[in-house]
Amino acid sequence: MQKLTLKDNELPYEVEEELKSLRTNLQLCGDDKRVILVTSCFANEGKSTTTRELARSLTALGKNVLLIDSDLRKSVVKEQVESGTIGMGLTHYLIRRCPAADAIYSTNISGLYLMPAGALPPNPSELLSSQRMAELLDRARETYDYVLVDSAPLGMVTDAAIVAQHCDGAVLLIEAGTVQRRLAQEVLQKLQNTQCPVLGVVLNKVDRRQDKYYSYGRYEKYYGNSKD
Ligand SMILES: Nc1ncnc2c1ncn2[C@@H]1O[C@H](COP(=O)(O)OP(=O)(O)OP(=O)(O)O)[C@@H](O)[C@H]1O
Ligand SMILES: [Mg+2]
Repeated sequence: MQKLTLKDNELPYEVEEELKSLRTNLQLCGDDKRVILVTSCFANEGKSTTTRELARSLTALGKNVLLIDSDLRKSVVKEQVESGTIGMGLTHYLIRRCPAADAIYSTNISGLYLMPAGALPPNPSELLSSQRMAELLDRARETYDYVLVDSAPLGMVTDAAIVAQHCDGAVLLIEAGTVQRRLAQEVLQKLQNTQCPVLGVVLNKVDRRQDKYYSYGRYEKYYGNSKD
């Protein structure tokens, strides 16, 4: 297995604390919730950052975590790599160019493994719909304590809903103050239609100076019947 050295992102204390709270809430969802999809309504809300930092946070507890970049339209893994070469990735595995093991990299962070998106394909939705994707997640569930799946924004493309069908749970991340309630509800409905349990909502990029939500980014349990 090839090794990548990842950049060290120093996070503000409050963000570390919120990540610990998210980590705890995820663990409280139960042992059967181990393959977790993270999606959002729109681009740039903070999915990749949050998924990556949550993965790091879980490894700090001694967990083995596989982080899969399933955003086959915009891969960001390269920007996080300090040294090491990324060759094969998820797309290569999906088009049968390589076995899954060749597209998974160990990292300088003990317990953290990475599957980058690989070459960006012309047909992401079709590739993600393949039986190979389902097999990947099923096998990874047996190997790792947690599998975190970063994805494309569900309010813009359907890819995340396709992947959600094979996940144990999904987290909807929402950038504070930017997403209209109606749109958030529509995306939530799309997730629920996949039959994948929605474990919660992460409110990200909360402006602490306004102190509206008393935190920088925070996790809220999603109550299915709430009409608020
Ligand atoms: N809690 C946060 N506070 C401040 N900035 C943040 C926070 N979370 C993410 N960001 C910043 O927001 C930008 C977008 O983040 P990121 O790439 O994680 O979003 P994304 O949802 O994965 O986007 P895309 O849909 O394009 O893949 C980055 O510059 C990132 O550093
Ligand atoms: Mg992203």
